[in-house]
Amino acid sequence: MTDMLIRLYALPEPIVDETDPRHADWLVRKPIGCEHEEIVSWVATEFGTGWASEARAALHNRPVSLQVAVQGEQPIGFVCYDATARGFVGPIGVQTSARGSGVGSALLRTALEEMRTVGYGYAIAGAVGAVDFFRRVAGATEIADSTPGLYAGRVSVRR
Ligand SMILES: CC(C)(COP(=O)(O)OP(=O)(O)OC[C@H]1O[C@@H](n2cnc3c(N)ncnc32)[C@H](O)[C@@H]1OP(=O)(O)O)[C@@H](O)C(=O)NCCC(=O)NCCS
Repeated sequence: MTDMLIRLYALPEPIVDETDPRHADWLVRKPIGCEHEEIVSWVATEFGTGWASEARAALHNRPVSLQVAVQGEQPIGFVCYDATARGFVGPIGVQTSARGSGVGSALLRTALEEMRTVGYGYAIAGAVGAVDFFRRVAGATEIADSTPGLYAGRVSVRR
């Protein structure tokens, strides 16, 4: 796992084709207040308590720095920024059954474009597992000596 740097001023062309029919039955948007607990609980179920904690942090930011992908009333993916730390993008997750249809790229692009709009020049993706995904969608490059980086000594209570 490594941190990656994303140049927000030089993002590659988007790879999601908005006219692709697979894109027609889901959309990426910000949640409204009454959806926050449902989203945190869905993230905890799908991806664990660490990411749920980061989702909660992003939902507390103003403006809210979490985007959700929804299909009908069902969340199928999410992305945050300014959740792990300021200037960080992520976590990002798409539920298993919805992967490979452009949801992840649409989420990541939306978050990065918003970061650029609010004034960031760069974004950092922390402890990236899907290195090729970030490289492909965001032109991200690996940051040397960034493991364990910010996550060193993180609290993890033995139960
Ligand atoms: C990574 C993730 C968010 C991608 O979501 P997705 O909806 O499947 O992504 P897309 O369909 O938009 O794929 C975009 C491109 O990235 C590639 N890609 C997707 N997931 C990838 C992965 N895990 N590793 C490498 N490349 C990946 C796709 O093949 C696609 O490339 P293509 O256009 O050449 O086919 C999703 O696989 C996921 O939730 N994984 C588990 C959680 C995770 O690892 N999050 C990232 C933590 S760093």
